[in-house]
Amino acid sequence: MQILDLNYWDTRHRTGDTPWDIGYAAPALTDYFDQIEDRTLKVLIPGAGMAHEALYLQQQGWTDITICDISESALKKVEQQLMPEPQVRLVSGDFFALEDSFDLIMEQTFFCALDPALRSRYVDKMADLLVEGGKLFGLLFCKHFDHQGPPFGGDKNEYISLFSNKFYIKTMENCYNSIPQRAGSEVFSYV
Ligand SMILES: C[S@@+](CC[C@H](N)C(=O)[O-])C[C@H]1O[C@@H](n2cnc3c(N)ncnc32)[C@H](O)[C@@H]1O
Repeated sequence: MQILDLNYWDTRHRTGDTPWDIGYAAPALTDYFDQIEDRTLKVLIPGAGMAHEALYLQQQGWTDITICDISESALKKVEQQLMPEPQVRLVSGDFFALEDSFDLIMEQTFFCALDPALRSRYVDKMADLLVEGGKLFGLLFCKHFDHQGPPFGGDKNEYISLFSNKFYIKTMENCYNSIPQRAGSEVFSYV
């Protein structure tokens, strides 16, 4: 089993071995952001990779966006894409070591990138990072992969039981506006 540490992820980013990167902000996520009026909400995108959604948010006038990734190489590339304004803060480091609080946290292929043994720690950490009334939303794979992860898959029932340890689950539904190559294999989660 691979050790999914800084070295593993930084090598993948440095060598361009990033098949998860769809190259643009996912519509299911931008649609969700677009219906929120208050663009001063403090947003976190953990395990952000190329962080296409952060650039989208910046263009849409959101003012307080933090992206976190363990790979410095990824963040160096992101820095070159962002507009030079200060709305986006880049945090190079481990999500589990973050100490801050947020109104809104977005998930996309970060949960599935972690060793499944860390899933309940992920849920606990998300709950710690959110302010009272804060929301975690995003996309989770609802399929099991026939190869060794990452990505590591799962299913809706597993996620409901996992997230309900710390959250009230408002939505955990098959995603209707996935990108074509992920159609039918994602749930939209909002807790
Ligand atoms: C599968 S990629 C997804 C990237 C991005 N969310 C996307 O959808 O394109 C997983 C990302 O999580 C980052 N990562 C892995 N473990 C991490 C950790 N413990 N803390 C912060 N970032 C981490 C990796 O460097 C990688 O960029």
